[in-house]
Amino acid sequence: MSNAVIPRWEIHIKPMFNLMDRIHMSYRMDFEDPDSVWQFRAAILARLKGGTMPPENEHGPWPEEMIALFQRWVTAGEDQFGNKPPCLTMPVGSNYALDSGLLECDAQVPSQQTKTWFHLIRYGDDVHEFNLYSEFPPNAGPAETTVFPFTKMYPTPGFKTIIVNDANGAHRIDVPQAIA
Ligand code: HEM
Repeated sequence: MSNAVIPRWEIHIKPMFNLMDRIHMSYRMDFEDPDSVWQFRAAILARLKGGTMPPENEHGPWPEEMIALFQRWVTAGEDQFGNKPPCLTMPVGSNYALDSGLLECDAQVPSQQTKTWFHLIRYGDDVHEFNLYSEFPPNAGPAETTVFPFTKMYPTPGFKTIIVNDANGAHRIDVPQAIA
């Protein structure tokens, strides 16, 4: 089974490697780093398909669907992304604002069709933190169009700050009294 979604490192590939994999393989490659995994993709695929990694006496082997997903990521990178690992892009964001519980910003992406969203990475009592992510298409042109993504907030009591990470780093947005 397949669809048009191109697997991306952050969402689909990185979560397939667990802490055990990362620690045991750190002598040779870094499962936290898309460039390292990309560099060793042929050896990784050979071990995955051969059923020898992850080891059978640990949590291996992977189900065939996970191997097929990794293969699809490799093929997309080689065929459509100029031999680079398909990853999400952190665009340049600006004009961050909270309006009636909605988080808003302008994001520089290649076209209005480029999917862009706030990806939750921390949901603390005081701080909610997001990565601003875009799915740039293969061979994306220059980022010149501005779009307006938003997400609904579900504040916890005492919730004071939103942090958004984008291409320019971290942005802190104070939560207005009415929402907190
Ligand atoms: C998805 C998970 C994993 C992948 C894709 C993977 C992949 C690989 C690859 C490609 C090699 C050959 C490295 C080379 O070219 O020098 C290798 C070697 C090795 N791996 Fe892993 N590994 C995984 C998980 C693990 C885990 C969980 C362990 C131990 C608990 C482990 C232990 C080893 C050891 C000891 C070697 C060296 C001996 C050998 O080549 O068989 N690996 N692995």
